[in-house]
Amino acid sequence: MGLFGRMKQVVVGAAVLVGVLAVWSGGEPVLHAQDAKSQAVIEKAFPSSSKCKRCHERVFEEWETSPLSKSIHSPAFRASLDAYLNSSAGKDKAMCFRCHAPHVREFPEQAQLFVDQAKSGDPSLDGVACAQCHLIKQVDRAKHPPEPKYELGSKTLYGPYKDFVQNLAHQSMELGLFQKSDLCLNCHQSVPSAANLGKANDLLGSYEQSQAVKSGKECQSCHMPEQVGESANGEKKRKVANHTFPGRIGKLRQEAAKLDVQTKIDGDKTTVIVKVQSLVPHNLPTTHPAWASVVLDLDIKGKNLKTVFADKRIYGRTYADAKGQKTVFDFEAAKVLEDTVLKPDETRVETFTFPTPKDTKTFDVDVTLNYAPITGPAPFLQRVEAEASKGSQDPVFQAIDIVKRTENIPINK
Ligand code: HEC
Ligand code: HEC
Ligand code: HEC
Ligand code: HEC
Ligand code: HEC
Repeated sequence: MGLFGRMKQVVVGAAVLVGVLAVWSGGEPVLHAQDAKSQAVIEKAFPSSSKCKRCHERVFEEWETSPLSKSIHSPAFRASLDAYLNSSAGKDKAMCFRCHAPHVREFPEQAQLFVDQAKSGDPSLDGVACAQCHLIKQVDRAKHPPEPKYELGSKTLYGPYKDFVQNLAHQSMELGLFQKSDLCLNCHQSVPSAANLGKANDLLGSYEQSQAVKSGKECQSCHMPEQVGESANGEKKRKVANHTFPGRIGKLRQEAAKLDVQTKIDGDKTTVIVKVQSLVPHNLPTTHPAWASVVLDLDIKGKNLKTVFADKRIYGRTYADAKGQKTVFDFEAAKVLEDTVLKPDETRVETFTFPTPKDTKTFDVDVTLNYAPITGPAPFLQRVEAEASKGSQDPVFQAIDIVKRTENIPINK
């Protein structure tokens, strides 16, 4: 048998067998054996990325450094998965995995295995890996969010090439979907919330009306930039797609936003006007997880470069749950309280006024736009910290700078 087989029948058989074993023995070791068996069945349908690595080393290494390869690994994911499962919304165990490990869609009866693996902190099951994308044959955009249709049981992997080279492991087929945003939208357009918030909770905003879309760009144009390289080991070089998925990390940052800073001194009063121009064709930030926010920080440094004034603006979305309490979890969101997200291609003008710094001939205006660290109720943050091997040093607790401007302003008396 090749990479793929008659998994549907096998799954049903295995599920029944597994149930019987659990009843008869009830012991831990057998449960492990049974998990291993279920995993083998899942990986027959969705071969592990390590199988692809053998021939697609370049792609594998790029993907391995991307956030996608860690989609069920992060302490924040574990802690919020747990919060979800313990909440009244948390009855559907497969919910989070529909995007974080989408093969769960084909194995709903194995949802607990996905939960256990994620909770272990070191899952051996893939999250969003090669087969999870390259077995998608169609995306149904009539659904909200759009739904992928997997083609299992054949040995065909879909991709961008018409003129693919034949190989012994799988058949290939060109599918236009792989150069279209539709492929990405099934996970990136919206996430389920407690009440149907509809368009008010779309992650990307009015992306379709952006200049980038009007000029024919797709998600891949920016997030899987074209390069020249080997598509499979030893094949001749051709146009390939970067699989590091630059986003918050990577070079794309330089194309995220521009800052224009103007300072006016009027006697004892100084005004700083900051123009924040988003160059992103969708919301900045995209608002899942719900705590995601971008912050504009202003820092005025007077005598001896000491901060004499500081202020900030926060771009994000705040939600209330069904009881009207603020929540950082979109799965329990019933209402959008406030939405200050930077809309596609938007320029936001912010005005700050403060007393002109004293006892100095000049002062510094420091302006930074950054992705903020995680926020939320203290017990949740403590949980994330406890889940993280590096504790409070985990990247989720660090801001990521997007753009920075510093200007030295002379005071003319
Ligand atoms: C099966 C669901 C799924 C599909 C399909 C999908 N993504 Fe994602 N994507 C995710 C998840 C989940 C994450 C977050 C991973 C993490 O950080 O844990 C993510 C993260 C990303 C990031 C990094 C975001 C950041 O904060 O830096 C980028 C960029 C991205 N995806 C782009 C794409 C593009 C482009 C496509 C289409 C070619 C795509 N994704 C298709 C689920 C998906
Ligand atoms: C409809 C698809 C979808 C669903 C359902 C979904 N997510 Fe996500 N999730 C994403 C995408 C896409 C990203 C990357 C977003 C970005 O970087 O802008 C992401 C990112 C995250 C992150 C930040 C990255 C990380 O791994 O630490 C966390 C935490 C997270 N999701 C938790 C959850 C939890 C918990 C659930 C279930 C309650 C859930 N998600 C359900 C698509 C989804
Ligand atoms: C989030 C979805 C997604 C994931 C995960 C993903 N790919 Fe891709 N892959 C794509 C898309 C979309 C294209 C086409 C991009 C284009 O042409 O603009 C592509 C192109 C390719 C190509 C042809 C171009 C090239 O870069 O060589 C190969 C081969 C490939 N992928 C293999 C893999 C392997 C192997 C993995 C896992 C290590 C993987 N992909 C993970 C979406 C994905
Ligand atoms: C025995 C080696 C081998 C293995 C194993 C292998 N591939 Fe390939 N694959 C190739 C070769 C060779 C090509 C043709 C590359 C080209 O035309 O430049 C290819 C092409 C592709 C393409 C492009 C198809 C198209 O028409 O656009 C995708 C996508 C792909 N492979 C994904 C995968 C995934 C996912 C896995 C793991 C499940 C995998 N491959 C395992 C050798 C292999
Ligand atoms: C014209 C280029 C462009 C296109 C097209 C584009 N993006 Fe982005 N995207 C960006 C830039 C620039 C950033 C910000 C990167 C940074 O700050 O480091 C970004 C950031 C992101 C992030 C991470 C930021 C966050 O707030 O979590 C995700 C996820 C993402 N884009 C998904 C998508 C998806 C899905 C599509 C298609 C529907 C898409 N993008 C289309 C340019 C683009």
